[in-house]
Amino acid sequence: MKAVIPAAGLGTRFLPATKAVPKELLPVLNKPVIQYVVEEALAPEGVDGVVIVNSREKPQIESYFSEDGQFEQYLHDHGKDAEAEAVHEAGALPVSFVYQDNPKGLGHAVLCAAPATGDESFFVLLGDYFVPDRKMCVEMAEVSRAHGGASVIAVAPVPADQVSRYGIIAGQRTESLAGAESAGDEEPGAVWQVTGLVEKPAPQDAPSHLFIVGRYLLSPRIMELLETQGPGKGGEIQLTDAMVRLLEEEEMYAVVVDPNEGCDTGTPAAWAATNARMAMKDPDYREAFVEGLGNYKF
Ligand code: G1P
Repeated sequence: MKAVIPAAGLGTRFLPATKAVPKELLPVLNKPVIQYVVEEALAPEGVDGVVIVNSREKPQIESYFSEDGQFEQYLHDHGKDAEAEAVHEAGALPVSFVYQDNPKGLGHAVLCAAPATGDESFFVLLGDYFVPDRKMCVEMAEVSRAHGGASVIAVAPVPADQVSRYGIIAGQRTESLAGAESAGDEEPGAVWQVTGLVEKPAPQDAPSHLFIVGRYLLSPRIMELLETQGPGKGGEIQLTDAMVRLLEEEEMYAVVVDPNEGCDTGTPAAWAATNARMAMKDPDYREAFVEGLGNYKF
């Protein structure tokens, strides 16, 4: 089973940095953002590879995930064994690449990975966000198993005035993750059966306040539907629109997650906050990070 990470975007929110460095390679501490997403994608049992949907303009991503034995040897020869190991780990991750030549939307990006996902269900992880404890996709896989392999998405509550930035679900709460039986309908651990989806609705048209956070476990049928999916919101081929058609044929579930479980890296401010959060949580960085802030008055 594969996990797909769309990564063909231009990164305009990070210009000018992304003029020369793909946004996926911006670091959080010492690792590129996309490596956290790849490692998260490999956490659920059964995921044996990650397919990155890249653009030809960003060959640096592929080179980052390639082996570089010569460089590793150089590091070993200079007594930098831990660094050599870190370089080795990045090159040894089971990552493959497909290329999206025209940015035609998220649905189109996912479709580009069809030759790699084959006739199995697959995960999609949007790369502007990662979950340090890597549990979200694992929980989604459990819900899917309980429903005969149904598609499952992660959702979280969003204020009414922000619904038009996201895909929003309609549905009913049907059950809970183990241990979350007392959670409210929009609280982490509640599980909904999805009956409808709308991409970026106006506030008055939103069927709920639960938005798609960017983690999907999808039935292989979605690839066939994407082949005939026309453009939707913003003139783009929307994954959400193909999922609406999938709902006519198959069941779909949504797990309510705590958005704070994940770290946002989609804007410079969110990325900076994520670096701070990860530094404060990491015993290797915490002390030096706090010391680095010094007595600066904010
Ligand atoms: C995409 C999806 C949307 C989802 C969002 C999460 O939108 O189309 O349904 O809620 O990601 O970040 P985008 O942010 O690419 O416009």
